Amino acid sequence: MVTIGIMTINEKTIDSIRNFCILAHIDHGKSTLADRFLEITGTIPAREMREQYLDMNPLERERGITIKMTPVRMNYEIRNPKSEIRNKSKILNSKFQNDFEFADSKQKFVLNLIDTPGHVDFSYEVSRALAAVEGAILLVDATQGVQAQTIANLRLAAAEGLYIIPAINKIDLPTARVKETREEIKELLSSEGISPVRSQMLKASADPIKSDRTSNGVEAGDIFEVSAKTGEGVEKLLQAVIKKVPPPRISNQLPVTCNFTILRALIFDSHFDPYKGVVAYVRVREGILRKGDKINFLVSGAEADALEIGYFIPHLSSQDTISAGDIGYIATGIKEPAKVKVGDTITNFQFPKSNFQIKNVEPLSGYKEPLPMVWASIYPEEADDFDELKDAMAKLKLNDAAFRHEVESSEALGRGFRCGFLGTLHLEIVSERLRREYNLRIMVTTPSVAYRIRYAAGKEEMIFRASSVPSEREKYTIEEPWATLAIVTPPEYIGKITEILHEHRAISGEAKNLGSRRIILNFLVPLAEIIVNLHDDLKSITQGYASMEYEMSGWRTGDLSRLNILVAGKDVAAFSRIISRDRAEREGRAVLLRLKDLMPRALFLVALQAEVEGRIIARETVPALKKDVTGYLYGGDRTRKMKLWKKQQKGKKKLKDRGEGAVEIPPEVFLKILKKG
Ligand code: GTP
Repeated sequence: MVTIGIMTINEKTIDSIRNFCILAHIDHGKSTLADRFLEITGTIPAREMREQYLDMNPLERERGITIKMTPVRMNYEIRNPKSEIRNKSKILNSKFQNDFEFADSKQKFVLNLIDTPGHVDFSYEVSRALAAVEGAILLVDATQGVQAQTIANLRLAAAEGLYIIPAINKIDLPTARVKETREEIKELLSSEGISPVRSQMLKASADPIKSDRTSNGVEAGDIFEVSAKTGEGVEKLLQAVIKKVPPPRISNQLPVTCNFTILRALIFDSHFDPYKGVVAYVRVREGILRKGDKINFLVSGAEADALEIGYFIPHLSSQDTISAGDIGYIATGIKEPAKVKVGDTITNFQFPKSNFQIKNVEPLSGYKEPLPMVWASIYPEEADDFDELKDAMAKLKLNDAAFRHEVESSEALGRGFRCGFLGTLHLEIVSERLRREYNLRIMVTTPSVAYRIRYAAGKEEMIFRASSVPSEREKYTIEEPWATLAIVTPPEYIGKITEILHEHRAISGEAKNLGSRRIILNFLVPLAEIIVNLHDDLKSITQGYASMEYEMSGWRTGDLSRLNILVAGKDVAAFSRIISRDRAEREGRAVLLRLKDLMPRALFLVALQAEVEGRIIARETVPALKKDVTGYLYGGDRTRKMKLWKKQQKGKKKLKDRGEGAVEIPPEVFLKILKKG
């Protein structure tokens, strides 16, 4: 028994909880496997079942990808435990001796599953889900084999010390290569040096409680084979989760000043509800929370009432209490989204009279905020919508913790936001959500990476737009972010991939075999090159057989410079950009040609110039409008015509002399040049 305030939690209840997630490369079948789990456990009635049930956002359904993690609580009763235990030997090559035995014939379990996205841009979602669970199914598509995201996810899970259950999916397909995939998984587990045995041990040493259970580990033989589509092998996999993933561990090391365990619940996600305010998604580490309790946020210092608490099944299901080991939600009534941050710890005020105070409660270790490396500006199409956009962004941030935004204003576009994203798909999804969920008409600029200016005097500064590059008079270097890029590919594409990567300024690293039909190529690449369209290029040259995964590796001084665009001699700050010097001329000319096409003609010639470090590197001219000033003259009086032409020329000169102010760049030209896509 663990005493919590005046209530107690039966350890048996905690022992019957399993918190886990499914990790996989994009499209390897996570959401389909989750569907089968929902069916087996009867969580969703058959008549309400639809494919990829947990992909609830309309955008997810439309694009067929998961962009948000979704928690769901399932109840499962072991129906025939005796035969299950006998069947244990069927789990291939299992040397696993310490499975949890099912105690009685009608044992009930609570299974909390968090469905996670597969795309690299949403890996922050995955890492937060991992911190809320004890185990993970690592799912690999038998027709695709191990892919870049499989490796990245495995590393994340191992760093969290999770118990890992590898499984091969899509075994129903004729093109399934189960044997080879099994080899690849085995090799991956050993070559990465992050065997699940070790990852489990790490967690055990961090928390000595119940360490008797943590000496267990998955060995390479424990690889399950399933078809998430037909359901084959799925129930066995679910039972393996019960047998192998340890139940939540609860710290019952009590503060010296009191004889009870206080509530600590980690916020791993949230959303905004117009009636309930901010709804925090929590993993309760210790203690118990009752509906109506006063709650306190340990990091932000905010206070609120637990208006409604409950579980996800997967919609919100109200309960009277949630307690240690649970994954659930707390509706706070808070209307200012900024007060609730992912990674904060919630506690309650319900202490018996003692000298114990809130400030004695240590917050749980939260999450390391990801640093967005892809930046773009978002402006309302109608200036009046600025406040609405601001409000929408604050609410969206609640549900997308990796998204950053700050107000900026531009001479050309008015007031808007400079926004940070984890990648270009993330940018696309955020813009779509603003348009659809908040009904806003917005303009998004072409994305770029963040740069770092290092001054000779030692100072450094992060900049998010080219117009912040200092003038030539100062001594500085521009640094750009680089990433380590891993590409998993069949060997026949190595030549083409290396060639295209070198065009993108990449430096080759080591290559490693993964089974007999796949190789991992490692590169160092400037992030700016990755965000352009490297992913699409890679997919097209390998017919979709290669996959990539990248991670920020640090900053490097680049041969970079600011490209300025001059219209009628005037530098238009909104058009400037940071470019690699060897591509300056090509890029400068491309912008000028586009601009030439878009600019309305004036009565005189308008010079368009691209400039780098005070040197003009490209030039184009917008031709003048030709007005026929002599058209109304009948006949051939040459002298009268000459007079009129002279007058026209004088007028044009006068206009020009009035200065560049006479050349107006219409807002739609700004929009077209700056706009993404
Ligand atoms: P993301 O959420 O985008 O990362 O994808 P996911 O991993 O959730 O994959 P999803 O469940 O959406 O499945 C991708 C596709 O594979 C869908 O068309 C599924 O119907 C199909 N699929 C999933 N599992 C199986 C399987 O076992 N057999 C067959 N034949 N198809 C499957």
